[in-house]
Amino acid sequence: MGPLRVFATCDIGEEALGRLRELHYQVEIYPGAEPPPHALILEKVSSGIDALITTIRDRIDEEIFKAGAGTLRVVAQDAVGLDNISIESANRYRIPLVYTPDVLTDTTAEFALFILGCVARKLYPSEKLVREHQWKLWHPSRPFLGEDVSDKTVSVIGTGRIGKAFALRCSTLNVDLLCHTRSPDHVWLSKIQNLLELQHSSGLIPRGRRIAYVSLEECLRRGDFISLHVPLTAQTHHLINRATLKLFKRQAFLINTSRGAIVDEQALCEALKKEEIAGAALDVFEREPLPEDSPLRDPALESRLRLFHHFGSGTQKTRLSSDPDVGMAGRCVQGVIDVLEGRYGGNPAHMPYVANKEAFLPADGN
Ligand code: GLV
Repeated sequence: MGPLRVFATCDIGEEALGRLRELHYQVEIYPGAEPPPHALILEKVSSGIDALITTIRDRIDEEIFKAGAGTLRVVAQDAVGLDNISIESANRYRIPLVYTPDVLTDTTAEFALFILGCVARKLYPSEKLVREHQWKLWHPSRPFLGEDVSDKTVSVIGTGRIGKAFALRCSTLNVDLLCHTRSPDHVWLSKIQNLLELQHSSGLIPRGRRIAYVSLEECLRRGDFISLHVPLTAQTHHLINRATLKLFKRQAFLINTSRGAIVDEQALCEALKKEEIAGAALDVFEREPLPEDSPLRDPALESRLRLFHHFGSGTQKTRLSSDPDVGMAGRCVQGVIDVLEGRYGGNPAHMPYVANKEAFLPADGN
């Protein structure tokens, strides 16, 4: 029997991939910076590789899992989002799917907060003014002013790991928080409420602030800043659309660091143009990289619309650390090792980074 074979569709960092080589695995990395064609991934899987390392750019569908049936032992996604992968097919062929939760939570949550500040305080127009030699005089209100975050209401849509970490950061900003989620965590909510009360009772902030779970509609109607932290599913696709944008206040800002297709970009552009909402900061798009002809590139929207290159988890440490408790690459590679080395008694249901544990649990009643 030859060495175990791993194919990585992208170079996720030599420090982490080197851990696989140390175990004498044969590691092949797709050499281009662009994603490999689907047909090439299929070819590699059909050739009998043991592990496939993927990123959010790869479509890992039924065809790929079917080609790997009986040979492919693990698919390792270097991300927390799995919307590019057919979990149903992974389960059908009982192939463990490992991913990188937790290690990017703080990095992404702080990024969401920073881009919120960036759009509210008009940081890009301000820098542009200076760089383009348009700052001719200091004036108290010209050529423009920004909006405060303090004293406002921040709505957090989705209180999973990243939504909670984002809300925690907001809790020190002297704001009220509204949250909406499918499965409310009241224990967590009361901890944040205690923090808010402590800030008030100790005299650090002048007014008592509140956090509450409310309906989506209430979040959208009352929020001054609406930040999206939900996974992309059939239920969340275009959650922010023409109708839901109508609920926003005119002075509200939308922040999206989750997945692009949660927002109907066409509808968002219209709402921005008609000044039905104040602005938006987007790190994710329906199509990535953002197409040249995207309406989001309209220069008329530039001062109120911040666009980033899916950069929320993009720090050295979070993307590249080979330590599974620190970085995505480390956690992704550790998931491969757990499966190929048969750790945790060889049972994927007991392995910490397996996303589809359900496929390896005994069926009910057995
Ligand atoms: C990034 O978008 C991720 O899902 O990790």
